[in-house]
Amino acid sequence: MSTAIATQATKATRLTEAIREQSPFGEVFSDHMLTAEYGDGRWGAPQLFPFGPRPLSPAASALHYGQSIFEGFKAHRTVDAGVALFRPADNLARLNRSAARLAMPPVPPMLLLDGITALVRLDREWTPVREGGALYIRPLYFAIDEALVVRPSRRYRFVVMTSPVGAYFSEPVRLVAEERFVRAFPGGTGDVKPSGNYAGALLAAQQAQTIGFHNVLWLDGVEHRFVEESGLMNIVFVVAGVAVTPALSGTILPGITRDSVLTLLRDMGVRVEERAIAIEEIVNAHDAGTLTEAFGVGTAATVAPVATIRYRDRDLTLSAGAPEAVGWRVRCLLEAIRTGREPYRHGWLVRV
Ligand SMILES: Cc1ncc(COP(=O)(O)O)c(C=O)c1O
Repeated sequence: MSTAIATQATKATRLTEAIREQSPFGEVFSDHMLTAEYGDGRWGAPQLFPFGPRPLSPAASALHYGQSIFEGFKAHRTVDAGVALFRPADNLARLNRSAARLAMPPVPPMLLLDGITALVRLDREWTPVREGGALYIRPLYFAIDEALVVRPSRRYRFVVMTSPVGAYFSEPVRLVAEERFVRAFPGGTGDVKPSGNYAGALLAAQQAQTIGFHNVLWLDGVEHRFVEESGLMNIVFVVAGVAVTPALSGTILPGITRDSVLTLLRDMGVRVEERAIAIEEIVNAHDAGTLTEAFGVGTAATVAPVATIRYRDRDLTLSAGAPEAVGWRVRCLLEAIRTGREPYRHGWLVRV
């Protein structure tokens, strides 16, 4: 049962069927947003406002020193005409792990879950109906102290916006193994979601795109040898029928989709190994014919088959997305759970 949240509703919705079903990923926002501010050692009451700009000083410390974190998860239409959030508590727990790492105060769970539930309930008609569509939920939490002093801010703003989305990738993914730039390193912030992680990864992705790839296959920051993530997703390889994925070593984001997919693979009777994977092992498995699939896993793309991995002078080509493929089967099962077609499993759905 959620607590009532002060609401200033818009008088004129911007929603049309075309906007809901055809907008490019993450470029259109629903009518409302949730906001709350922290100052003087405590949180103010959350409020729902029409989506739009709010004043921000150019001195806001998030802009200078990067105390800014975010999350991303989805609400789906369910077969019984409802709307449900997928594993929100896991994302919100990760948000507070990110907050702790950046010396930011935790966001109270009530504010997170009740506020987001109220927001999605208010804008539930923005949830796409099309197959694979979802209402993407973006919590953002950043420092607003107006002082050019490097220290944890005393004031913060928490905002949640939502956006109707469809598929993230329209084709199998091409990745190039990255040996110069690193996404994360031991003791850094690779296992949480500060905005700065994404800024630091842009150049590598941009350079991969100029040579015809979607993104990079990140390698570890010490030896540049062990596979970590694929662009903005975790990665799973299928080697001799075993699903192998990098272990959560502290430099990898613990993806909620990764956890869901590994759970479902185990349910499906597929053996799962979470361990260190050297890039040479992938090359050797490819050459031996035992590497049958690779797929990225993340909220935006769910399960994205990988078509090509470039490593130095080699292009490893993989068959991507066949209906009998492990990745395809787990993707279908995940989608069926998210939409309530498959009876609720593991308590992952929270109805709004
Ligand atoms: C770097 C990175 N890895 C992995 C993921 C996948 O995480 P999740 O499944 O929770 O979306 C994301 C997306 O949040 C990400 O940004």
